Amino acid sequence: MKITELRARQIFDSRGVPTLEVRAALEDGSAGVGSAPSGASTGSHEAQELRDGGEAYGGKGVRRAVDGVNGPIRAALTGMDAADQCRVDERLNELDGTPDKSKLGGNALIATSWAVADAAAKGAGMPLYRWLGGAQARQLPCPMLNVINGGRHADNNLDVQEFMFVPSGADSFHDAMRMASECYHALGKLLREAGLSTAVGDEGGFAPNLARDEDALEWMVRAIEAAGWKPGEDVCLALDCAAAEWADGDAYRQPKSGARFRRGELIEYYDALSRRFPLASIEDPLGEEDFEGFREITDALGGDLMIVGDDLFTTNAERLFRGAALGAANAVLVKPNQIGTVSEALETVQLARRSGYAVAVSHRSGETLSTAIADLAVAVGAEYIKAGAPARGERLAKYNRLLEIEEELY
Ligand code: PGA
Ligand code: ZN
Repeated sequence: MKITELRARQIFDSRGVPTLEVRAALEDGSAGVGSAPSGASTGSHEAQELRDGGEAYGGKGVRRAVDGVNGPIRAALTGMDAADQCRVDERLNELDGTPDKSKLGGNALIATSWAVADAAAKGAGMPLYRWLGGAQARQLPCPMLNVINGGRHADNNLDVQEFMFVPSGADSFHDAMRMASECYHALGKLLREAGLSTAVGDEGGFAPNLARDEDALEWMVRAIEAAGWKPGEDVCLALDCAAAEWADGDAYRQPKSGARFRRGELIEYYDALSRRFPLASIEDPLGEEDFEGFREITDALGGDLMIVGDDLFTTNAERLFRGAALGAANAVLVKPNQIGTVSEALETVQLARRSGYAVAVSHRSGETLSTAIADLAVAVGAEYIKAGAPARGERLAKYNRLLEIEEELY
């Protein structure tokens, strides 16, 4: 399965910001595509995107990343075996040569890595989830649907970035999507009736202004009930605080409300929230360098709650290794573009398994129509997938792909 051609071009992501798409072709005529999503609340330890700077596109053009693929990356990968994803990804890292992938760009690397994986799957005549996961790839993840957006994902006054429905009582993926969709529409109706905005944020969730962040959870509980489901039984709630955005020296300050917390006060706040609401999971409750705080909150609340490290781990096996040794968090968010190649994302999943951590595969706030993460979630048997609200094409593309995979498998 020799790679005969690689071609990158600039496309736009869901925020209208340039990103790149790569097409890989093999000697047998099979071809695959990959593209790079992009975060807004990016962790400091993520692979760096290569952007052009200058005036065009406010400096966010990706001409240099495209040229890197069409130049040195194409030259190095042409003739390589697409079936050897590890070797291809190693070669990409060698070519880049920097620890944060800033020379060729994590965006160029992940789009290329996905394109090669997709082409190899096509060449083998297999769906991507089977190609990556083999015979064990049979488990559909439970979706976590971000239905109220705040933080950096919306221009409203909420500091918590994501408020999610988790239809954990569902017996199947399509039932989970039905429950979440019904609750999402019930939520929209309730907000509209209360005279609140139903305009949506970057991930398709509503972005109303509310007096307090807790009010979002209250509206969600009401919506679950209005849709005829039982909060905490059929549908639970989850938060992504993205609290790295709140870090202020060795304490925390929420930028919108101005509220200040010491680490211990923040943990008490989450404890109180989890007693009041049917919370199943909190992602990034503390800052991205606060391994000790993550250990503390996991000790205190991790028995009942999933404590997810996103900016803490940045899909980086070395950071996960450090966290697992401490008992910091009990789940890892897997965003392949945070680490830059498909094989490194798989390595992080493997370490998570060995460390007893749950796995949630995730999209980014700036997305493309790629459905590769849906296949990845099935390939690795991820317990969860985060792909935004059940609204907006780039979000539904992932959920619709999972519906298709479910039909193939069952
Ligand atoms: P991002 O947000 O894609 O803007 O980083 C998603 C998340 O924090 O989970
Ligand atoms: Zn996050």
